[in-house]
Amino acid sequence: MGCCWGSVLGALVLLLSVLDLCNGGTTSAFVRKVEKTVDMPLDSDVFRTPPGYNAPQQVHITQGDLEGKAVIVSWVTMDEPGLSKVLYWSENSKHKHKAKGIFVTYKFYNYTSGYIHHCEIKNLKFNTKYYYEVGIGHTPRTFWFMTPPEVGPDVPYTFGLIGDLGQSYDSNKTLTHYELNPTKGQTVLFVGDLSYADNYPFHDNVRWDTWGRFTERSAAYQPWIWTAGNHELDFFPEIGETEPFKPYTHRYPVPYKASNSTAPFWYSIKRASAYIIVLASYSAYGKYTPQYKWLEQELPKVNRSETPWLIVLMHAPWYNSYNYHYMEGETMRVMYEPWFVKYKVDVVFAGHVHAYERSERVSNVAYNIVNGICTPVKDQSAPVYITIGDGGNLEGLATNMTEPQPEYSAFREASFGHAIFDIKNRTHAYYSWHRNQDGYAVEADSLWFFNRYWHQIDDSTTAQ
Ligand SMILES: *[C@@H]1O[C@H](CO)[C@@H](O)[C@H](O)[C@H]1NC(C)=O
Ligand SMILES: *[C@@H]1O[C@H](CO)[C@@H](O)[C@H](O)[C@H]1NC(C)=O
Ligand SMILES: *[C@@H]1O[C@H](CO)[C@@H](O)[C@H](O)[C@H]1NC(C)=O
Ligand SMILES: *[C@@H]1O[C@H](CO)[C@@H](O)[C@H](O)[C@H]1NC(C)=O
Ligand SMILES: *[C@@H]1O[C@H](CO)[C@@H](O)[C@H](O)[C@H]1NC(C)=O
Ligand SMILES: *[C@@H]1O[C@H](CO)[C@@H](O)[C@H](O)[C@H]1NC(C)=O
Ligand SMILES: [Fe+2]
Repeated sequence: MGCCWGSVLGALVLLLSVLDLCNGGTTSAFVRKVEKTVDMPLDSDVFRTPPGYNAPQQVHITQGDLEGKAVIVSWVTMDEPGLSKVLYWSENSKHKHKAKGIFVTYKFYNYTSGYIHHCEIKNLKFNTKYYYEVGIGHTPRTFWFMTPPEVGPDVPYTFGLIGDLGQSYDSNKTLTHYELNPTKGQTVLFVGDLSYADNYPFHDNVRWDTWGRFTERSAAYQPWIWTAGNHELDFFPEIGETEPFKPYTHRYPVPYKASNSTAPFWYSIKRASAYIIVLASYSAYGKYTPQYKWLEQELPKVNRSETPWLIVLMHAPWYNSYNYHYMEGETMRVMYEPWFVKYKVDVVFAGHVHAYERSERVSNVAYNIVNGICTPVKDQSAPVYITIGDGGNLEGLATNMTEPQPEYSAFREASFGHAIFDIKNRTHAYYSWHRNQDGYAVEADSLWFFNRYWHQIDDSTTAQ
């Protein structure tokens, strides 16, 4: 009897574990060369300062208002403040407009920043190419950007996704592949952890400057939408640095007031057919907190007839099956996941874990402390959760995964890369992930997204 039960049980356990493995998604079999992730040295080409007296450097732009008719231009001058003015003109007009901004400086331990300029240019026309000039009076430099089309449900638009970028040789490859991808990203959704300056002794803020120079080649020409990660905290009380996010907030302004947010760490924008909500993993999010109250009012405002695509960005992922940062997103998930299901968020992008993972549409909202129902279940109202913390920073790849692969995890792979979210119309968006080891155009993972509001069918069974 004992022996029989033993073998029956054994077979059952085996069967269950096989089922378990089958039900989980794909753990990619891709084998990459194991190489250390190394930061580019200070004298690298990508860190060169532009020539000329007081030449503006680290130029970058982000959306400046709720709808995409304003842009915030930021840059740094090193020799003297110079003018915080921007000259700008549309492609088909000779008339140059002028906008006046401000500059700030900050100190971090024994580092003193350059003059960091921020200038908002407003009342732009939609879907128009603008040139802009900074460094007026000393060494002018000219850049350009495209404003997005007017907000509307069927406007195609292409977002790039990059996270945890840092400034290693791999980071440079990620950015290069994003730039060369034949599907041209028009705006970067950046899911946090920018420079990794805090990995240097005393958080050497010179590495914030090098990062600004490295990313200028993209961020001066298309908006990067910022999310704060843990590497933006720069909280270092041992050396007297007790103001969290000091370098980040001085350098990377966001239009948080336009969405009635009270802090730059959580906010939203509309862009083309997308409504993008940025959340803060490292600001309070419990009940009664400013972020909680804001999000509670924000989600009902989203009009899916106007912006069918509801995208959420955050740094720490809620669904992560790597043995890194395991369950760090759990407390925020418990607070906000019921809302994401109720309001049918299409997709949540997060970073933090230095690898790639895509979930099934799942939710885990039934648990109430006493009922024991605490397993994620398939849920067509739930978002797809994508971890894209694979930009290539010096900390290297997360390779250690929980085994077996949980059922909620559809695809995971420990490689660096970037992704593209290509909105076609109100019902369809094409998503692809590109690992760095392949040519930039190769898709290592892809999925057709069918909009949760306009097209409520099961994409996980029809697409791949
Ligand atoms: C800041 O202090 C550190 C440690 O004492 C030192 O290594 C570094 O050179 C200093 N940097 C500047 C800009 O003074
Ligand atoms: C970074 O990438 C760019 C574009 O591919 C290349 O021109 C540059 O030499 C690279 N720099 C380093 C330090 O790898
Ligand atoms: C922000 O709040 C003001 C005042 O309550 C309101 O008029 C405005 O519509 C709100 N803006 C957004 C984007 O919700
Ligand atoms: C939602 O957007 C549509 C399309 O722009 C518009 O017709 C409708 O009035 C909006 N609804 C609300 C409640 O604002
Ligand atoms: C992977 O992570 C688990 C859990 O933290 C740990 O027990 C295990 O030793 C790790 N394996 C490797 C190969 O690092
Ligand atoms: C939306 O885009 C998809 C994919 O390109 C296409 O198949 C579909 O016909 C489009 N729908 C409309 C209404 O144009
Ligand atoms: Fe992180």
